[in-house]
Amino acid sequence: MSGIEMPLIPVKFVVNGREVEVKVRPYERLIDTLRYRLGLTSVKEGCGRGECGACVVIVDDKLIPSCLMLTVQARGRRILTLEGIGSEKKLHPIQKAFIDVQAAQCGFCIPGVIMAAYWLLEVKGNLNPSVDEIKDALSGNLCRCGSYYRFIKAVKLAANELRKIKGKS
Ligand code: FES
Ligand code: FES
Repeated sequence: MSGIEMPLIPVKFVVNGREVEVKVRPYERLIDTLRYRLGLTSVKEGCGRGECGACVVIVDDKLIPSCLMLTVQARGRRILTLEGIGSEKKLHPIQKAFIDVQAAQCGFCIPGVIMAAYWLLEVKGNLNPSVDEIKDALSGNLCRCGSYYRFIKAVKLAANELRKIKGKS
């Protein structure tokens, strides 16, 4: 005998500047909607329980692990993923800095780390962060390859570049 199927619920939100509507079960996680319904595969699943930061996205200016948020909770919100900050043809200065200092090893954690860096530099607007402020912003992101030292270098480099672009040197 099969169980009772939960209803599909329509949910509208804005992702990377585009309004989308999905129909999801009430228990569907945001990470699954982003990856499997919307094709935003920069959002990675590591732990699936809010501990590794591989899945973090920016929801209404807050850094949120998308494995801990239900899609129905995203109704009416603005979501930003790595796909929304730059592209292969037009890299965001943070992405470029991570390449320039060769911060990625296996690369699995990198989308989440870049989103945390973006939150610090672009959302909080801290374009001259101290090492401690960078460590603090990235403290929710685990890197099993141990690239932490290069993350700090990359964020410093990106901050310098952004200051130049925004005329705040
Ligand atoms: S997969 Fe979401 S925090 Fe690890
Ligand atoms: S670069 Fe491999 S987990 Fe971070």
